[in-house]
Amino acid sequence: MAAREIVPGVFAVGVIDWDRRLFDELIPLPDGTTYNSYLVRGSEKTALIDTVDPTKTAELMGNLDQLGVNAIDYIVSSHAEQDHSGSIPAMLDRFPGAKLVTNQKCRDFLVDLLHISKDRVTVIGDGDTLDLGDKTLEFIIAPWVHWPETMLTYLQQDRILFPCDLFGSHYATSSLYVPDEGVVYEAAKRYYAEIMMPFRSSIKAHLAKLATRQIDVIAPSHGPIYDRPALIIDAYQDWTGDAVKNMVVLPFVSMHGSTQAMVDHFVNALMQRGIQVQPFNLTKTDTGDLAKALVDAATVVIGSPTVIFGPHPQVVYAAYLANLLRPKARYATVIGSYGWGGKTVDTLKDMLGRLKVEFLEPVYVQGSPKEEDFAALDRLADEIKKRHEEAGIIPS
Ligand code: FEO
Repeated sequence: MAAREIVPGVFAVGVIDWDRRLFDELIPLPDGTTYNSYLVRGSEKTALIDTVDPTKTAELMGNLDQLGVNAIDYIVSSHAEQDHSGSIPAMLDRFPGAKLVTNQKCRDFLVDLLHISKDRVTVIGDGDTLDLGDKTLEFIIAPWVHWPETMLTYLQQDRILFPCDLFGSHYATSSLYVPDEGVVYEAAKRYYAEIMMPFRSSIKAHLAKLATRQIDVIAPSHGPIYDRPALIIDAYQDWTGDAVKNMVVLPFVSMHGSTQAMVDHFVNALMQRGIQVQPFNLTKTDTGDLAKALVDAATVVIGSPTVIFGPHPQVVYAAYLANLLRPKARYATVIGSYGWGGKTVDTLKDMLGRLKVEFLEPVYVQGSPKEEDFAALDRLADEIKKRHEEAGIIPS
């Protein structure tokens, strides 16, 4: 990847990882990703905002070479996770006069994770500024985006926000700026779902703080740069807001067809009642797609057979993930079939303890579903419609 100018004196010097398909050994990356790093050249000093994944250090160095960079005064670290901090030790070696600029918590993490010497670090606090001559960096401490030490950097004169992970997308593209708003919106929603959703309340507060600033460009640390910041700010207002959509998300597994028959019937029943539904067969689904669907669905219904005495292990995985991600759904329940007994419904309820949901009456039946079981699914669909209407999610 080449170094590219954003505005005079500000350059994108990060790298594209076209081939990466898994992040944190957890998050699928169907579109690869980028690790963005930015060089800000003031009339007096030069700063590098974040670095890149350690597997890509040489490419970052090459981009700096391309710009003829032979001195860096400050390396700003917004976040200690290694996809942004992993090349800091190599940068500190290459630029022995450089100071690492970060907040205290991030410094402590960097010392622990990368064994960086505290002597190289200048600690800043919320609202502090770094004078580069004709350019000024202002630091906004923004904890829990998505670690406790995260911060944002605002370049005052050019009105560019460098929010690191916040507003990012795992989307590899050769375009410096958003090439297609619809495509990047979807990638950013998936990224929000997988990484930011558990921290919805903190992010809401940070959005309110940012609302007072003029921001012309948002340059995150993953994915393309937003030259129309409203695209992503409006999306985050929507995703972090309390409103939910008239939608049921239905992750399920079926072993011998009984749960599948119930899911098929239930999907139709919901559709007939004007409720959107997204079924996810967990033996085939990409968990990122499931997470994205959870961002604004009003209701989650889990479909599971009983394996020995509990839920199918792939359902357990999805329920564990949903509990971690903590979507804003308001209602939940379980449907499915068992052979001879077990505690599938109770186990799944217990597993979703972090969700602030009301549990609706489950439809959990023995063996292959019968007429009365399909009728119970119809009643559940009626109940969901009623709850959605009462909550103002759909007009009555
Ligand atoms: Fe892109 Fe939290 O690292």
